[in-house]
Amino acid sequence: MTRPGDLLAAAPARKAPAAFDVERVRADFPILRQTVFGKPLVYLDNAATAQKPRAVIDTLTRFYEVDNANIHRGLHQLSERSTAAYEETRAKVRRFLNAAEDREIVFVRGTTEAINLAASSYARPHVGRDDEVLITTMEHHSNIVPWQMLCEEKGARLRVAPINDDGELLLDEFEALLGPRTRIVSVAHVSNALGTVNPIRRIVEMAHRRNIPVLVDGAQAAPHLKIDVRDLDCDFYTLSGHKLFGPTGIGVLYGKAALLEAMPPYQGGGDMIASVTFEKTIYNRLPHKFEAGTPHIAGVIGLGAAIDYLESIDPEGRAAHEQALLEHATRRLAELPRLRIVGRAKEKTGVLSFVIEGIHPHDIGTILDREGIAIRAGHHCAQPLMDRFGVPATARASFALYNTREEVGALESGIRKVLGVFR
Ligand code: ALA
Repeated sequence: MTRPGDLLAAAPARKAPAAFDVERVRADFPILRQTVFGKPLVYLDNAATAQKPRAVIDTLTRFYEVDNANIHRGLHQLSERSTAAYEETRAKVRRFLNAAEDREIVFVRGTTEAINLAASSYARPHVGRDDEVLITTMEHHSNIVPWQMLCEEKGARLRVAPINDDGELLLDEFEALLGPRTRIVSVAHVSNALGTVNPIRRIVEMAHRRNIPVLVDGAQAAPHLKIDVRDLDCDFYTLSGHKLFGPTGIGVLYGKAALLEAMPPYQGGGDMIASVTFEKTIYNRLPHKFEAGTPHIAGVIGLGAAIDYLESIDPEGRAAHEQALLEHATRRLAELPRLRIVGRAKEKTGVLSFVIEGIHPHDIGTILDREGIAIRAGHHCAQPLMDRFGVPATARASFALYNTREEVGALESGIRKVLGVFR
């Protein structure tokens, strides 16, 4: 078994990242160099999916041109190379999340599949009639529906912790909802629709005092925050590769080894078995027990390249840039007439949601699109959260490390145009 220190010790020393320079970062993303409707593209839909740096694109091309083979099966060179690259990425993800062991990293299609896996394999055996699953009002549908399906099947109850008007979790109310029947807590690290950063360590402490495990949906956190699953002490953590500058269709479920060991497989098939007879199957060891069938090998390797890329960038400089950008955008937009920002939590990252009196968010999105500005407008897969704020939808600008103050200026001008059209 690989021990935590082994691969770290074997890994080549990483170069110290250069000081953060947004123009240099932008140069790494070929897609940003285009015009849309004759205007320079301003890509502010990063919470939906982030763009890919050249390093990720080249890694995918190289994989298919040079190394492509199935993993864990072949004796030949190509299969050995693919397997090595695939498993090296597992070690990279383990380091990226500061997990204790490689076998705690399970590759899945994305956060949605990660949560479904945990709901099915961990929670199904633990949740019975009249038991409870606790989530919050600000969850994405992918952190609501799998639990709802489970509760329906089991005759259990989905409890929902409330938030305040700024979009912050009400911690006292949350704690009061942790009861003797609570079997699991599942909560977003960062809200995709509001940008709120939840106090995960405190949430985990509260739940663990009552022996309740916690799953953290990290899809929107991983692109912005330093993630340390051992420091957070969460039991499960999920992320999506495509929001982390990697390919679509690949994600991660981190789970504490003891929990994953005790869980039944999620899907049956090749690679998740140690041996099969018609009478009985012995399952493979972790993490392969949860990776049935040929996985998204290129996606995993591309995710590894995305992590390498991110780690080549000065983390403090990057965080300061992103935070300053969000604050600047918030100040600029807050001054616009009829515009209301939805989600004013003290701790926020990446996302600026807003509504404009008398104008549907889809109209805002359509007019901005003609200005070359990509935002998302809609319910953001968080309909109960929209209900909480009494709006059917919002317009959402979401930022990444390559966005600039000039782009915030373009967004502001674009919104002024919208206001002009809908006087
Ligand atoms: N969950 C993604 C978003 O927030 C798709 O846009």
